[in-house]
Amino acid sequence: MPEIVQNENLREEFNRWAEAGKGESMETEHRPIVEPTLAMMKIAPTDEVLDVGCGGGWLVREIASRVAQGRVLGMDVSDEMISRARRSATHLQNVEFVVGGVDAIPRAANSFDKVISVESSYYWPDAAAGIREIFRVLRPGGSAWILINYYRDNLYCHQWSKTFTIPTHLLSGDEWVGLFRSAGFKDVAHRRITDPTPTPETYTGRWFRDAAELAAFRREGALLVHGAKP
Ligand SMILES: C[S@@+](CC[C@H](N)C(=O)[O-])C[C@H]1O[C@@H](n2cnc3c(N)ncnc32)[C@H](O)[C@@H]1O
Repeated sequence: MPEIVQNENLREEFNRWAEAGKGESMETEHRPIVEPTLAMMKIAPTDEVLDVGCGGGWLVREIASRVAQGRVLGMDVSDEMISRARRSATHLQNVEFVVGGVDAIPRAANSFDKVISVESSYYWPDAAAGIREIFRVLRPGGSAWILINYYRDNLYCHQWSKTFTIPTHLLSGDEWVGLFRSAGFKDVAHRRITDPTPTPETYTGRWFRDAAELAAFRREGALLVHGAKP
């Protein structure tokens, strides 16, 4: 399927998520695994940062408070997510949002010091091309950080494939590392980020069979893949 059609399918799907209020509720779900990631990124106050698949923009606002002399760009294929993100950040001077797919980041080469992407990369139609685009827009010495809950090494997320309504990729940590290395990144590694949130006694959502399975999933942790541009 051509990338333009896949991006349109993603746009429609995530516009529905935005209208259902998920852009906002994902902050609660993702913050516990994002906080340790932000600490590892060592964001400097002057950094220019890109958040790919920024959703409702909560992480862009968070990073903006850490880069008083820098800037943050949030990018998302869903125009509805971006509208909401823009409305939530009108008080911030150092943020910008743009609609777009990771396959064509609308910025010049060497524009950013850090790139982060949270729970987005397994939806990208061509993950290898997305990583290459991120490499292009990073400055030499900059770093990329991809954090996902859906990856092959965590057996407790495999069942999500039956729930997803759009195509996804279930890659292992080593496969993601391979994509980073092929794009030109050095010092590439993957690691787990565990979610310390207490598990409720009963689980009523649609992603896990029961609370025990949710607890097992959280013990495995999210997958963080990172690398630096030489
Ligand atoms: C599960 S949401 C996560 C949103 C946000 N990162 C967060 O943690 O709250 C995935 C986001 O990735 C975006 N996305 C999916 N594929 C994309 C692509 N190819 N290019 C840019 N954004 C994409 C979606 O529109 C959606 O907003």
